[in-house]
Amino acid sequence: MNTQRHRFDTVIIGSGLAGLRASLEAIKGGSVAVLSKLYPTRSHSTAAQGGIGAALGNEEPDDPEWHFYDTVKGSDFLGDQDAIEYMCYSAIPTVIELEHMGVPFSRTPEGKIAQRRFGGHTKYFGAEPVRRACYSADRTGHAVLHCLYEQALKNRVQFFDEFQVLDIVVENGVAQGVIALELKSGDLHLFESKAVVVASGGFGKIFKVTSNAFATTGECLSILFEQGLPLEDLEFFQFHPTGLYKLGILITEGARGEGGVLLNGKGERFMERYAPTLKDLAPRDVVARAILREIMEGRGIDGKDYVHLDLTHLDPKILEKRLPEISSFCKIYLGLDPALSPIPVVPTAHYAMGGIPTDKKGRVLRDVDGSYVPGLYAAGECACVSVHGANRLGCNSLLDTLVFGRETGTDINRNLKDLSLGKIPPHRVDKVIAFLQFLRSNKGKERVATLRDALQGIMMNKVSVFRTREGLFEALEELQVLRDRFQEIELMDKSGIFNQEMLSALELYHMINLAEALVFSALVREESRGAHYREDFPERDDVNWLKHTFVYKTSSGIDYKFKPVVITKFKPTERTF
Ligand code: FUM
Repeated sequence: MNTQRHRFDTVIIGSGLAGLRASLEAIKGGSVAVLSKLYPTRSHSTAAQGGIGAALGNEEPDDPEWHFYDTVKGSDFLGDQDAIEYMCYSAIPTVIELEHMGVPFSRTPEGKIAQRRFGGHTKYFGAEPVRRACYSADRTGHAVLHCLYEQALKNRVQFFDEFQVLDIVVENGVAQGVIALELKSGDLHLFESKAVVVASGGFGKIFKVTSNAFATTGECLSILFEQGLPLEDLEFFQFHPTGLYKLGILITEGARGEGGVLLNGKGERFMERYAPTLKDLAPRDVVARAILREIMEGRGIDGKDYVHLDLTHLDPKILEKRLPEISSFCKIYLGLDPALSPIPVVPTAHYAMGGIPTDKKGRVLRDVDGSYVPGLYAAGECACVSVHGANRLGCNSLLDTLVFGRETGTDINRNLKDLSLGKIPPHRVDKVIAFLQFLRSNKGKERVATLRDALQGIMMNKVSVFRTREGLFEALEELQVLRDRFQEIELMDKSGIFNQEMLSALELYHMINLAEALVFSALVREESRGAHYREDFPERDDVNWLKHTFVYKTSSGIDYKFKPVVITKFKPTERTF
């Protein structure tokens, strides 16, 4: 294979919000390359609809301390409170900075940044919902991403678009660089650097019904896991309550923030029973479980497997001005106008709370003792700081990407002089080439699409909102069978250029790895907390389980350790809404 070598101070994988925000700091200290498997403005951050949380208090009284409290409670007390406090207090300057960079936020009549309600965000420590999500209609991620991309271009960050990462090289315990495939030429590119930032997003595509884009397959997490680095709290995978029925496409929580309500087949506003104070704006784990309970108990619409999100009572101008994106999704995909008809919705796999463990500076942890890998950083959904604990509050993900993306870039600048330029050893290149050759030349009876469907079915049926030990064991066994079947894979497309089938095979390999790590973590945790609900252990158990799970790949299988949760101000209490 043709091979090209590049040298940069910092290489960032991913051109979503975390990667771009990190790039804007790192570029102040040295050269920066951003590698993206897509064209940057197609990054999944653009799919973030409803808003970014910051206690600006533009529409009613608010306080960062309340934001801090809500996030801790929303996390079911598993979030690290030092990191959460830092994030919530940084939220206000972060949003103001975005405004100054040029993000076109929606406005109040007097010209301030408009704010709307979102699940789990309250005033006076849980008393009632508060308008905290700063938004740009229902295209907030899109607006912020385009602005940051322009800023990165202006600041001479170099972009390598449509480059698929094949390896993140850690040798002798230190980050050395990244090996990537250029899709349009089929060439290998070796990026040697002082610092590597993994900002590659989530991996919702391991589930059948998901709000995540096709590219969110998580290979970078798996690549680090295969090198013996840990993954944290993988068992906590969020299902967003309102995905379009059967399709999983996100219908923003902002729709409920603007006054939309969930109705069951009897026309009841059932959330009043599950969360008497916050109702439809309870945290996502609570609402997703409530919807599925209604369906399981026969109260879906016409007894079927969905409920309604009703916006028909809202002023049509609200739909037009503040929710245009979801209105158009309903028209395009379901042929219905949400101003006239309720929307059929079900929970959809949305967000990984767990991921690559980092400290508050974005440094990747190698172990539960806080030791880290010099030169290796992670930020955004692929990382676990952990500010979301067992359940993320809506509109805290954009905040996480921006706050910790910036921290990551800042720390790189601070340390660049002490980091040496990495060197990618030939054996790492040989390994990558051997794997690509295996994919392109292997003969067998298995097809990528069949195996991917099987994987997504296992995860959806046995590892989604409700879990049992029996189901998780079955899932592990079935994943092992899939791993064996992967060895029998044969591609129809043997070409070296823009070979989407080969990329899908590569993604599938890593998705199976990640799915196994997730199921293993879910089996280990014998309690219910946040998004992880074990029907065989239905209670939260703070005595035994107020701790983070770290899983490691070893030569004898997956191993695990625990790390204490950082609790500063808010002691765990019963979680009612
Ligand atoms: O509902 C939404 O708009 C999603 C936002 C989020 O996941 O933070």
